[in-house]
Amino acid sequence: VRTLDDKVVAITGAGGGIGRALAVHAGDLGAVLALSDWDETGLAETARLVRTRTGKESRTDRLDVRDRRAMHDYAASVRHEFDRVNAVVNNAGVTLLGRFEEVDHDDFRWVMDVDFWGVVHGTEAFLPHLVESGDGHVVNISSLFGLMGMPGQTAYNSAKFAVRGFTEALRQEMLADRRPVQVTCVHPGGVRTGIVRNARSTATTDRAEVARHFDARLARTTPERAAEIIVAGMVAHRPRVLVGNDAKVLDAVVRVIGPRYQRAVALVSRRLS
Ligand SMILES: NC(=O)c1ccc[n+]([C@@H]2O[C@H](COP(=O)([O-])OP(=O)(O)OC[C@H]3O[C@@H](n4cnc5c(N)ncnc54)[C@H](O)[C@@H]3O)[C@@H](O)[C@H]2O)c1
Repeated sequence: VRTLDDKVVAITGAGGGIGRALAVHAGDLGAVLALSDWDETGLAETARLVRTRTGKESRTDRLDVRDRRAMHDYAASVRHEFDRVNAVVNNAGVTLLGRFEEVDHDDFRWVMDVDFWGVVHGTEAFLPHLVESGDGHVVNISSLFGLMGMPGQTAYNSAKFAVRGFTEALRQEMLADRRPVQVTCVHPGGVRTGIVRNARSTATTDRAEVARHFDARLARTTPERAAEIIVAGMVAHRPRVLVGNDAKVLDAVVRVIGPRYQRAVALVSRRLS
């Protein structure tokens, strides 16, 4: 899509954070919104914000992106209601804090289920409708941690690297087969949202302390700014969108010094812990 005006845009995880800011920004630009989240309260608040700014109603659905059947039914229902779907933003995501040796296996699976399988479910369910629209776009939210490893983030790194691989291969398939669907992979650095407060953590991780550090030092970009950057990248048909200077600088470091970045990050992380 080159503009969001009158485009039908589905956004998962729209009940807070980046998803909410994306909904508000896309609404401002004239998009017809299908918003989902498993948090109904947050979702209602997002719809209220959109209504206040644009006077327009959004479709809202309680949806768990881990539920493949529900995602397929949802996509079909959005297509039925609006006659077309132009974009899906697979944004819903969670994280898990703590060293791999202490990580609970079920928590690791939870991260993969939401962050990786949720993206695959959203993509597979919407793709036929996006192709049919003649002007479709898949936007998958990976992370800076889909570009570099980080101690304490093994599960999240696994999911976000997987999202990147999946999304880049899909883009190539769409290009090779001349499908009318753009594909964009988004890699945000720190964005000031509830992601750390909503995280699970290992027994020895002080989640409140990590959240304080995240809010004060790491999360430099506002969700509103992140949404502007993501939409600008989308309408410019960018394959990869980096959000924030932290993402830009660290992406460059990893590409320039290669695998040696790992020792540097490990040394910094040892000093901080
Ligand atoms: N905040 C950051 O610094 C940052 C950095 C890089 C990538 N990201 C990614 O951005 C995306 C949005 O995260 P955020 O920072 O806005 O976090 P957030 O916690 O503020 O928002 C995530 C939203 O997803 C919803 N969600 C969680 N699990 C769900 C499920 N199973 N089904 C449906 N909805 C579910 C939550 O209810 C919440 O509304 C995520 O994919 C995250 O990994 C965030």
